[in-house]
Amino acid sequence: MSETLPAIRVPLAEVELGDPEIEAVVAVLRSRWLTAGPTVERFEAALAALAGVPHAVAVSNCTAALHLAYLALGVGPGDEVLVPTLSFVASANMACACGARPVFVDCLGEDDFNIDPTDLERRITPRTKAICVVHYGGYPCRIDEVLALAARHALPIVEDCAHAPGGTFRGRPLGSFGEIGCQSFFGNKNITTGEGGACLTRSDELAGRLRLLRSHGMTTMTWDRHRGHASTYDVALAGLNYRLDELRAAIGLCQLERLADHNARRGRAVRRYRRVLAERLPQIRIPFAAAEESTFHIFPVLLPAGTDRPGVIARMRAAGVQTSVHYPPTHTFTAYRGSSPALPRAEALAPRILTLPLYPRLGDEDIGFVVDSLRAAL
Ligand SMILES: Cc1ncc(COP(=O)(O)O)c(C=O)c1O
Repeated sequence: MSETLPAIRVPLAEVELGDPEIEAVVAVLRSRWLTAGPTVERFEAALAALAGVPHAVAVSNCTAALHLAYLALGVGPGDEVLVPTLSFVASANMACACGARPVFVDCLGEDDFNIDPTDLERRITPRTKAICVVHYGGYPCRIDEVLALAARHALPIVEDCAHAPGGTFRGRPLGSFGEIGCQSFFGNKNITTGEGGACLTRSDELAGRLRLLRSHGMTTMTWDRHRGHASTYDVALAGLNYRLDELRAAIGLCQLERLADHNARRGRAVRRYRRVLAERLPQIRIPFAAAEESTFHIFPVLLPAGTDRPGVIARMRAAGVQTSVHYPPTHTFTAYRGSSPALPRAEALAPRILTLPLYPRLGDEDIGFVVDSLRAAL
């Protein structure tokens, strides 16, 4: 018989949903138009406005957004795409889905888990077709340096903004710097629609390609034909079906209303964590320790070198605290093992990363409990 775990007292993440989302979904159901239509259009307009770009193309998830971004930029067989190793695997997997090869780039180090622009530039070859960066945890990467090196090498940038809706770098919205920004509305993200995502772009041409690729390469959508705006369609290229639906867009519009408040409350919790950890557990190192410009998507810390992390995770879980690890470096997974030279900084810090619970409703008492559980587990 398997051992039963005690109830979770502090989960890793928590979604805040309420009557507005429920009513919005019911209204869509009552409208009887469920596939992409007017609500998706309104959601796209709101996402574009938030990011300060003219175009948002809503899609079924961020993995789809990354796939479309690479395809729209012409990534194909034989190409290389530079990706951060310390990120979610989707940016590498989608390079493979295009027939290209992901080339992994090291992170800056213990204080900043984001991509190292110097290592990035070192890995550019004649085959490099695009650069993908992530704003890890909602903390902006050194996008100014990445923009400068991308310009020197005439390479496009895909910004993986899965952690960063509403985020900025020196006041300018994340997702507006690269050629295409990609967002995720997965269940644990700062905005959720269950599953969902979007591509952001300043380029009319790229927006057109993304829209075609999203829906089979078809020149009109069912909604256009339903409205009488079109009676037929052509297929301009071999596309996919990565559309978002009205139900999710309706949830997304409600979530957008909550975003600024949620990001502010996440930030407040992070500042509290920083103070309590400094007092009670000074041996825990906190990356992005003083950063204020963030969407505070997750709260990773570094355990002292040599800590038995699986033991700490198990003991915290036994105390009712859920934790996670963001991320095992992608180049060390079975699928990518042997495909990359050593990336020493990511490899050195990876066994020490522990992600502590973070969500808007996380209170001071919860934070005290998490830190005390961590102290006991150590
Ligand atoms: C950095 C990053 N990129 C991409 C994704 C993929 O997002 P989705 O689950 O919406 O496909 C995630 C999801 O966790 C992520 O964290």
